[in-house]
Amino acid sequence: MDQLLANAVDQVITSRHSVRAYLDKPVCPEILKDILTVASRAPSGTNTQPWKVYVVQGKKRAELIRQVCDAQLQMFEKPSLAEHHQETFAYYPEQWISPFIDRRRENGWGLYGLLNIQKGEKEKMARQQLRNYELFDAPVGLFFTVNKAMGIGSKMDIAMMIQNVMLAAKARGLDTCPQAAWNHFHKIVSNTLHFPEDEELICGMALGYADPNDIVNTFITPRVPAEEFTVYVD
Ligand SMILES: Cc1cc2nc3c(=O)[nH]c(=O)nc-3n(C[C@H](O)[C@H](O)[C@H](O)COP(=O)(O)O)c2cc1C
Repeated sequence: MDQLLANAVDQVITSRHSVRAYLDKPVCPEILKDILTVASRAPSGTNTQPWKVYVVQGKKRAELIRQVCDAQLQMFEKPSLAEHHQETFAYYPEQWISPFIDRRRENGWGLYGLLNIQKGEKEKMARQQLRNYELFDAPVGLFFTVNKAMGIGSKMDIAMMIQNVMLAAKARGLDTCPQAAWNHFHKIVSNTLHFPEDEELICGMALGYADPNDIVNTFITPRVPAEEFTVYVD
């Protein structure tokens, strides 16, 4: 075994975490291209490579943020508007069960606790939710799509590619936050970014240099020990 290689890979995997505050520092186009090129080595069923990635920066980024933040703010004012902003696929279950709901709650309250947001503080929660649609100030937004004609397996394929993007970014000193939050606004995203009709948004992602001084980035999530989810079958 090449211990140095194992250490380097483990270090990249374990140091990645979702970053929700970024510096106003641009990402070099060559680095971005390298990340996407490396990430494309992800496996996919019969090598279909069903992914597409839309890179959003500068004016387009500003336009998208403005449009989606406006829609979200209108929705806060008038919750019935939510029916116009449904996801194309249900990422989460309708009926939650334990232990997943418990982990979800622990995650949510952990983050809110750090940000000093208490139960019932709807405005503060709404403000934090809105941060998603500002890309947490990251200079780069990535939007991942697959062709609608492809099966559910294509979501597995693109998920592996997305993880590669996050790891390749981390190895280059960049951080990320995958964002399903954008899926509610897929109509606005697809119109603004000019997706062809046959493409489905899988998720967005913030990418940039982490702000080391923002408390939100100290949020590190726990994991269940491997012994708890592993079954060695005799
Ligand atoms: C597909 C996917 C979608 C996610 N969507 C969001 C999101 O919309 N907003 C957000 O703040 N975090 C989002 N996350 C980040 C998760 O909350 C985070 O991965 C989880 O809490 C584990 O923490 P870690 O990434 O820091 O290890 C998403 C993660 C995944 C994998």
